[in-house]
Amino acid sequence: MTGTRSIHNLALIGFMGTGKSSVGRMAADMLHFTFLDTDHVIEARAGKAVSDIFAQEGEPAFRQWERRIVEELTRRAKTVIATGGGLPADAANLASLKMHALVICLWASPETIWERVREHDHRPLLNEPDPLGRIRELLAEREPFYRQADVLVNSGMRSVREVAQHVVHQFHMARSVPR
Ligand code: S3P
Repeated sequence: MTGTRSIHNLALIGFMGTGKSSVGRMAADMLHFTFLDTDHVIEARAGKAVSDIFAQEGEPAFRQWERRIVEELTRRAKTVIATGGGLPADAANLASLKMHALVICLWASPETIWERVREHDHRPLLNEPDPLGRIRELLAEREPFYRQADVLVNSGMRSVREVAQHVVHQFHMARSVPR
């Protein structure tokens, strides 16, 4: 990583279904920050749903969108950013987020994740015969990246409010010590 780190934003990373969007929205309210979800920004720009980008253009095209959005995030301040689950599994994306944001990873077990996402069909990576197996596989692949977050928070057994309060507390603490 090059340059000086200066924390203006809060970035939530973590697997699908760990609560990044719901926790992020509540944390943004508590901090009086803007909330931004990278998937929503991509959908607005591309004019189509994430699942359609995957189906029509393929995963590499979606990852290209993510890299473009990450670059734009460097110019933001006072924003809580919820990232897509695969976005930080790219060293350059993660390094870029860390330059301007405190990076907090929300964590949950594969079983909890599956319970939370099974009702939804908008996640193309889990539309397959053995979604729980796929969750385990992807989590194992991404764990080295997720572990590089500044803070890891288990969101499995806690309410959205509790996790949001914890995340906001961590953010205030991080800003009170020079990095
Ligand atoms: C993905 C997670 C999704 C979305 C896309 C790919 C991933 O976001 O970006 O379906 O690679 O884990 P959420 O984590 O918000 O579900």
